[in-house]
Amino acid sequence: MYTQLQLRDAARPPVNLTTLRRMRKEGEAIAALTCYDASFAVLVDEAGVDLVLVGDSLGMVIQGHDTTVPVTMDDMVYHTRAVARGLHRPFLVADLPFMSYASADQALKNSVRLMQEGGARMVKLETGAEQIRIIEFLAGRDIAVCAHLGLKPQSVHKTGGFRVQGREEQMAARLLQDARDLESAGADIVLLECIPAALGKAVTEALEVPVIGIGAGPGASGQVQVLYDILEITPGRKPRFVRDFMTGNGTPLAALKAYVAAVKSGEYPAPEHCF
Ligand code: KIV
Repeated sequence: MYTQLQLRDAARPPVNLTTLRRMRKEGEAIAALTCYDASFAVLVDEAGVDLVLVGDSLGMVIQGHDTTVPVTMDDMVYHTRAVARGLHRPFLVADLPFMSYASADQALKNSVRLMQEGGARMVKLETGAEQIRIIEFLAGRDIAVCAHLGLKPQSVHKTGGFRVQGREEQMAARLLQDARDLESAGADIVLLECIPAALGKAVTEALEVPVIGIGAGPGASGQVQVLYDILEITPGRKPRFVRDFMTGNGTPLAALKAYVAAVKSGEYPAPEHCF
């Protein structure tokens, strides 16, 4: 039975954690993108994206809020389920939204919802030293976990805005230590958002798990971007790390293929996308 399932579409076997670990070890860059619905999921899959994140950024790009804070568990389950229907090959990760993992029990209950109702293979949570016990708790129950470090959009009302993190020596040292501790606690992937490229490289070199960056420089083992940003759908001013892949590529599918190729070749991110 397992063999039959694995042989189905054997030319494009689904990406799993073993695939991602191997890619990191062999130096093949992991191309990741956010996605929020089934139609785009089909395109993202066809373009060769390895990992798809149903990010709580949907609160901003889909729902029109100015932060991710209003996003609920029901919103996340709804969009994760829609994306799962359109995907075959990419590894599906879903965000635990604001205040859905304030305790270990709550984190477990909501991770189970994302996996059983949504079809996610891994959950992501915004972390620091305070979440080490929660990561340990989830990992101890065989839930694959991604620890998000650096700029944490769910904390913007407390931290005072969307800003580059880890510029100061002391903050950089703390982030590096947190990354080590989260890996030891059982995080299977670390995601770094909006930090200096040198720190992104140092964290990646200090860890064994795949490290995926967004605005964290070319030293990470993979890159993730917000789908609507690279397709020029998001209106207004975009962060420095965003590159427009739509202009000159004609169709969304061609733009997504260009993104995957640029990540794999190391052409993206270039110095102008880094801090
Ligand atoms: O919610 C999201 O889309 C994210 C990315 C910015 C990595 O967490």
